[in-house]
Amino acid sequence: MTEELKTLIIEDDPDVALGCRQALQLEGLAAECAGSAEQGLRRLGADFAGVVVSDIRLPGKDGMSLLRELQRADPELPVVLITGHGDISMAVQAMKDGAYDFLQKPFAPEHLVDTVRRALEKRRLVLEVRALRRRLAQRDLLEARLIGNSPGMAGVRALIGNLAGSAADVLIHGETGTGKELVARCLHEAGPRRGGNFVAINCGGLPETLFDSEIFGHEAGAYTGAGKRRIGKIEHANGGTLFLDEIETMPLPMQIKLLRVLQERTLERLGSNTAIPIDCRIVAATKEDLLALAGQGRFRADLYYRLSVATVPLPPLRERREDIALLFEHFLLQAAARHDRPVPQMTQGRIRQLVGYHWPGNVRELRNVADRCVLGIEAGSPPFGEVPGEGPRALAATVEAFERALIADALRRHGSLARTAEALAVAKTTLHDKVRKYGLGD
Ligand SMILES: Nc1ncnc2c1ncn2[C@@H]1O[C@H](COP(=O)(O)OP(=O)(O)OP(=O)(O)O)[C@@H](O)[C@H]1O
Ligand SMILES: [Mg+2]
Repeated sequence: MTEELKTLIIEDDPDVALGCRQALQLEGLAAECAGSAEQGLRRLGADFAGVVVSDIRLPGKDGMSLLRELQRADPELPVVLITGHGDISMAVQAMKDGAYDFLQKPFAPEHLVDTVRRALEKRRLVLEVRALRRRLAQRDLLEARLIGNSPGMAGVRALIGNLAGSAADVLIHGETGTGKELVARCLHEAGPRRGGNFVAINCGGLPETLFDSEIFGHEAGAYTGAGKRRIGKIEHANGGTLFLDEIETMPLPMQIKLLRVLQERTLERLGSNTAIPIDCRIVAATKEDLLALAGQGRFRADLYYRLSVATVPLPPLRERREDIALLFEHFLLQAAARHDRPVPQMTQGRIRQLVGYHWPGNVRELRNVADRCVLGIEAGSPPFGEVPGEGPRALAATVEAFERALIADALRRHGSLARTAEALAVAKTTLHDKVRKYGLGD
């Protein structure tokens, strides 16, 4: 754990508070003070990175009620209570109510330091376990939702895992059907804002005149036809994620307004001068090269730089052909369940056709093919039938694609290069060259 844990001292007597703080700080332990339970509670959130030392007698809410409240919120937060001299019954009650320990006034500084050290150690372990559990749950979620064992897909999952917990805005870039919206949803669900709304806006789907009120909202009577007050989509995403799909299609005047919201993190509804604070993560998606568009004056460069702090590039399906069979199986099962049909058996020949196809519509196209297979209407359409207008597929490209997928699969199953070479009945040097050629090495 990188964050240093601290001790929150809740004590109304400034001399005692100062004494405690100094005793801890002299031993290199971070500490801060609050003069009342109410003040202290304001500094304690979920997963508070530290422990609490509190006097029992406090103005307003006393230490015992504070202890009970903290126990309800987080039973694993160590709370050390300071009791009056000879107040044994109070100390016993505190321990019964779940206090980590108690200190009887007057106490030696070493006693405080020793107790706090033990409490901090316990807290550190609890927080570590929680962080670990969260990471595992996040990994499970991403593996279940974003299918694919290719290095490209594993890289995307790792990137999402890293970005999900941060507040950084994210730009997702990929061809049609590569999973941009799915990735945006995963970023939302794997992060701390999952409790808030995921609000998607298709930036090209709205006439310019409606855009303003749709995104920013308006007050009643802000313009002709503006009846009741309307909350805009950005406000709706407060506490959650705002997904701006096809950001390249956003009209230039809107881009300026959006940039202002991103920079100031406030917005004004149409017809109002009140600035509303906005706390949402922005995830934008595009098929285009926004920088090139900016160069042509078709996209605001400042907005591009603001959005592209973190980018997730999604590789097209034809660059991760080893994912095709797995994804197809996944979509076949889904489609069979959806249409209440049996799962069709796939022949090796069919799988080869799937793997060799160039998938202009990427994963979405693959999902549609699985649907058609389940319904038994796949014949005659790509990749099984004639591909209209495509012309002859280069034999070499198809063979290479298939070879790459085959080697990747064998490597995964056999582990070492030697065993894989044996299984595929090729010389180790030949395999080694091919592994390098296809970028399959570590
Ligand atoms: N790695 C994946 N694992 C499982 N399903 C996927 C994966 N990638 C994409 N999909 C599915 O493929 C379909 C298309 O994905 P999505 O709508 O996210 O693509 P997109 O990039 O937003 O497409 P477009 O650019 O056309 O809007 C969805 O049904 C999505 O769930
Ligand atoms: Mg999409």
